[in-house]
Amino acid sequence: MGGLKHTRPKGTQDFIPPESARLRQIETVARSLCERYGFQEIVTPVFEHTEVYVKSSGSGSDIVTKEMYSFKDRAGRDLTLRPEGTPGVVRAVLENYIRVPCRLYYIGPHFRYGRPQKGRYREFRQLGVEALGEAHPMVDAELIRFGVVFFQELGITDCLTQLTSIGCRVCRPAYRDKLVMFLVGHQGELCPDCRLRLERNPLRVFDCKVETCRIAVADAPKPAEYLCPECQRHHQAVMAALRRWEVRFEVNDRLVRGLDYYNRTTFEYISTRLGAQDSLGGGGRYDYLVADFGGPETPAVGLAIGLERTLLATPESSPAVRRKLVFVVWLAESELDAAVRVLDRLRAAGIPAQIDFDARKPKHQFRSADAAGAACCVIVGPDELARGSLSVKNLETGEQLEVPQNTVVEQVRSFLR
Ligand code: HAM
Repeated sequence: MGGLKHTRPKGTQDFIPPESARLRQIETVARSLCERYGFQEIVTPVFEHTEVYVKSSGSGSDIVTKEMYSFKDRAGRDLTLRPEGTPGVVRAVLENYIRVPCRLYYIGPHFRYGRPQKGRYREFRQLGVEALGEAHPMVDAELIRFGVVFFQELGITDCLTQLTSIGCRVCRPAYRDKLVMFLVGHQGELCPDCRLRLERNPLRVFDCKVETCRIAVADAPKPAEYLCPECQRHHQAVMAALRRWEVRFEVNDRLVRGLDYYNRTTFEYISTRLGAQDSLGGGGRYDYLVADFGGPETPAVGLAIGLERTLLATPESSPAVRRKLVFVVWLAESELDAAVRVLDRLRAAGIPAQIDFDARKPKHQFRSADAAGAACCVIVGPDELARGSLSVKNLETGEQLEVPQNTVVEQVRSFLR
């Protein structure tokens, strides 16, 4: 056999059965939880005008400077495959005059050009939730709890929530000056990247992995030490609410989110099962973004969770060898019509059902049933038909029963249970 003619692009994944079903299961849990928390689905385009991201995620952020899939369309428009969901949602809320307060969620592919590794892909899926128009610190806590409950419902037990406050437009400038002063004094110890960060976004030095930088910033002033009284109160109230909800969290003064629009509360969910890409999700408050997009002043808070990383962190449940699927087996050509009627009845009753038209021998049909992972078979044979009945076989236990034709659906249901 010659080599494959086509392979998938670097950093992308195929989700094939049964992994595709596990991904779908995570999505099902996500949708159900979103509905319970009052979020309604919003579907926005997978690409936006590039400006939408530059103006919000931040012109100096890694996402915008290094990771965007940007292109010109045939008419010369600058477009970008969405690297994250928040800017598109804010744009859509304003463009469609959606009434605020509103709670919206989205699930879908996002794109970032990074070095692929375990847990980091160029195409990945996010569940995102955005609460626009809600200012209360209880809402920050409620959303943090939302993520914690999501991971709990999936059986992920090693998830740690880290939290900090990065202040607001009142207190951040003073802090920034203090930090820059400190960093200028330590410039000789900083890597070239961090020297650039010093000018563009000094807070990002806390995120640098270079050892000398880590040592240099160990004693740098932290944002939480410079919060204004309002931000202090907000931060304390968020933490008090989390304690009341018995959400375990850890304050991490060095938590740096890779996006520029945040103020006050920022948080991340960390898993120990993931290795270097250990963040399962993250979010925070972004009280200025709606106004920056030309809308009215609107407080907002949201988060996004990576579904591939969630999948990696989800404990492997004993793989279901058998699926909720019935195979209809026909013994001879003369039973084919009757077999198709059974197939239709099962499907009409909401039961996944399949038949193998190609395999003439029942032996081969049973092999197909096994290959498809069917949990049971309905056997349509001449003797049973003459008696007004059918045989139903449980492929897990081997049990076989002959039942009246009008009770087949019930019998199948009880085998599938
Ligand atoms: P983010 O922290 O950039 O936040 O991404 C959220 C999550 O998406 C990450 O924690 C991670 O699980 C997943 N993720 C990000 N990049 C990749 C990748 N290359 N491969 C696999 N998974 C990845 C945001 O995107 C914000 N929009 C969250 C938010 C919503 N803030 C407020 N509202």
